[in-house]
Amino acid sequence: MTKTFYVTTPIYYVNDVPHIGHSYTTIAADILARFFRARGWDVRFLTGTDEHGIKIVKAAAEKGMTPQELADQVVVHFQSLWKELNITNDDFIRTSQPRHEKRVQEIIRQLVAKDEIYQGSYEGWYDEGQEEFVTESTARENEYKSAINGKPLVRYSEPSYFFRLSKWTPKLIEHIEANADFIQPAARRNEVLSKLAAGVEDLSISRAKEKLGGWGIEMPNDPTHSVYVWIDALSNYYTALGRPAIGDEYDDAGAKYWPATVHLIGKDILWFHAVYWPCMLMALDVPLPRTVFAHGWWTSNGKKMSKSLGNFVSREQIAEICTEYSVDVYRWFLMRAVTFGGDGDFSAQTLRTKYNTELANGVGNLLSRTVNMIGRYFEGTVPPAGEVGPDEQEVIASAQRLVSGAEQAMRNYQFHVLLDDVVSLVDATNRYIDQTAPFKLAKDPSQRSRLATIMATCAQAVCIALAQLEPIMPTTARLGLEQLGVDGPAPAESAAWGERLKGSIVKKGEGLFPRKQ
Ligand code: MSP
Repeated sequence: MTKTFYVTTPIYYVNDVPHIGHSYTTIAADILARFFRARGWDVRFLTGTDEHGIKIVKAAAEKGMTPQELADQVVVHFQSLWKELNITNDDFIRTSQPRHEKRVQEIIRQLVAKDEIYQGSYEGWYDEGQEEFVTESTARENEYKSAINGKPLVRYSEPSYFFRLSKWTPKLIEHIEANADFIQPAARRNEVLSKLAAGVEDLSISRAKEKLGGWGIEMPNDPTHSVYVWIDALSNYYTALGRPAIGDEYDDAGAKYWPATVHLIGKDILWFHAVYWPCMLMALDVPLPRTVFAHGWWTSNGKKMSKSLGNFVSREQIAEICTEYSVDVYRWFLMRAVTFGGDGDFSAQTLRTKYNTELANGVGNLLSRTVNMIGRYFEGTVPPAGEVGPDEQEVIASAQRLVSGAEQAMRNYQFHVLLDDVVSLVDATNRYIDQTAPFKLAKDPSQRSRLATIMATCAQAVCIALAQLEPIMPTTARLGLEQLGVDGPAPAESAAWGERLKGSIVKKGEGLFPRKQ
């Protein structure tokens, strides 16, 4: 049976244009989608926009627009950036779409029918930036200001509908404890468990509709209330599959992809994904996603990126990097600079250095040396390898490690492990060329078979490296593979080393990664 793989990104707010943080999760999701698609898995990749909520209402008012007009304007920035970055999402959900709104109402209806929702009244400190109530103690600790953006907290008191979150937390704790994969990385899982142990209150899930100027999804049981944004937003992962069925043309269209394989998110929104979302699903009697993976945050030259400091790697800067280097180099760098799951620093200097060492002098140089030598010594046709010996062992072992470890690395969302293995293979092969000195052997006709083995080894090694880089650097890896004479998918592994590209006709081409000063 074909394996399914359903990967999602957070749906992004449309009160502002995209920046590096948005592109990071989306690129990571795209790499996974490409990787598993190439292995024949049935992949579904979803991204989209989160369009309701007070932030959007306010941002629209400031611009003299309606929230819908603002959403329609900003969504284009996300959609066009995803195109530019070569993102292969299968669907793009907007929470203002009727297919989503109607299903959220159905979800609420089901929860009301199961007595999972009740009416109460909420009073508390509210962080308008984060759209969440803050506990008294947290509010006090932060001097009644938002811990995130420093703006004063607002005192809210209003009738509200509540979801019985506290009822489900014991079951959630059991689930987290029994499923080591559910919250990743492990450090984040421990954070969630200790926060849960401190106790959780029921969740306010509605707001007075008038406060939102009518923008939002109406509570089906009370037209004076709108659905609180997190319930609305989180449901997108499910509604986009046409679930629950409501009798429209989207019904069950992607039902086979549930439960999701992985929700990729930033660490700031872990609590919502690791607590609210699974409890809601349990209350609905819907299976839980396999994994919620929270990545870290980017800083900019060592400083937190923030609107007030104006040091976000903005959409414009992303475009500049893509022009100076390439889209593929940007995609690669985001995965290369940081261990996925940890925080990382973005600096133009590091990008340059890593680019020159690993791409220009690394895989780029290896490819051009290989293609040139095969051109010169074998008239452009990859020769069959002769017998392999001790000189080849390190290259072969590195190649095998990369190939056999790739799937495991990607199943564990460890992009850096895969990239480390690519670097090891490329370095081992460049060293191998220096040690075996094919340029000397070429002068000695009695060494013809040895020379053939070396060329076949280099061609196979660089082909493997490029094939593994393809989900990360789709355009460039393809250009590289074409230089090796590979037009379709990279040929499968064959039992004998050095056979993989036998007879392939190499084509000298532009350097993949010109050195940057
Ligand atoms: N709309 C919610 C998500 C709802 S999901 C059901 C939201 N939207 S957002 O537009 O603010 O999304 C921001 C995403 O970008 C989050 O995953 C967040 O972690 C990420 N980042 C924002 N700044 C970031 C960095 N400096 N570094 C890395 N990612 C960061 O939250």
